[in-house]
Amino acid sequence: VKRVLVVHYSQSGQLTEILDSIAGPLRECDGIEVTSERLQPIPRYPFPWPFYRFLDVFPESVLLEPPALESLGIDGQMRFDLVILGYTVWYLSPSPPVTAFLRSDAAKVLKGVPVVTVVNARDKWLTAQERVKAELARLGARLIDHVAFVHQGNPAQHLATTLRWMWTGRKDPFWGAFPAAGVDPGEIRAASRFGGAIREALVSGEEIAGGPLLTHLGAVKVDEDTVLQERLAHPNFVFWAKLIRSAGEPGSLWRAPLLLLFSLYLGGMILAALPVVVMYKLFLRPFLRRRTERWVRYYEQPSGSSTAAP
Ligand SMILES: Cc1cc2nc3c(=O)[nH]c(=O)nc-3n(C[C@H](O)[C@H](O)[C@H](O)COP(=O)(O)O)c2cc1C
Repeated sequence: VKRVLVVHYSQSGQLTEILDSIAGPLRECDGIEVTSERLQPIPRYPFPWPFYRFLDVFPESVLLEPPALESLGIDGQMRFDLVILGYTVWYLSPSPPVTAFLRSDAAKVLKGVPVVTVVNARDKWLTAQERVKAELARLGARLIDHVAFVHQGNPAQHLATTLRWMWTGRKDPFWGAFPAAGVDPGEIRAASRFGGAIREALVSGEEIAGGPLLTHLGAVKVDEDTVLQERLAHPNFVFWAKLIRSAGEPGSLWRAPLLLLFSLYLGGMILAALPVVVMYKLFLRPFLRRRTERWVRYYEQPSGSSTAAP
């Protein structure tokens, strides 16, 4: 029997649905045993989020300062043939409960094991994946595949629908101009194709550690604009996170003025992102095109964006 561990943290349950879709074909297979671990931080984060709490988790998320976790059903001594690690993105970083898992004793289960990462974000997961990759390398895990699920609509639409969802809990389409928040349900159903490919590889008995298993299935899609925006934003996030963290612990009143200043900065950055990308395309792209294309190819590794049969 092949043993697969699926570990993740989800607030609304959206990432849980995605992972259930992926794990479906594995659960149906007699020769595969699936263990699921849904992480829970102590105390739990609110959902929907009060505005101030939403801001207050920023410094610790970016600085990878993890919360405590409720006790896990697995321990570092257990052996698995494959681990599927699902995470959402908070402020260009893995959500803190997943950071907590990666820094826990139980994360020793990842040593020497092939890992498939599954990310769910509004649309900005590149920096978070770099940070997860660094943690996996430190743990001696082997990242063989990466699959990304982003929210439906154009960037202005999913910015509005995601914030409305996070702050009010409402996911429905509105004003005839904005689609439902989150990942397209059709894409969630279609995620079972990844589980099908993993099942085939596991039952065929081939050596899967070399990976990738999920090429030609449209596992990720990276666009130049996101690469640019994240590479510009992340160093600023680290600066702000250190500054706010130096003012006190989560919940401390000393952080309030800085957090409010940061929220203005963030709003400004988001509004400025569009003209910056237009300016880039008009003036700088001809000079930087090769580099950005190289970045896109880099972030699409290891599974790639291709949907064409080999
Ligand atoms: C505090 C917070 C910060 C977030 N920051 C980002 C971000 O930087 N980039 C992004 O694409 N999505 C961001 N999101 C959206 C989430 O990644 C995710 O898609 C959404 O929370 C759904 O996940 P769930 O399954 O936990 O409900 C953020 C969400 C929260 C709650």
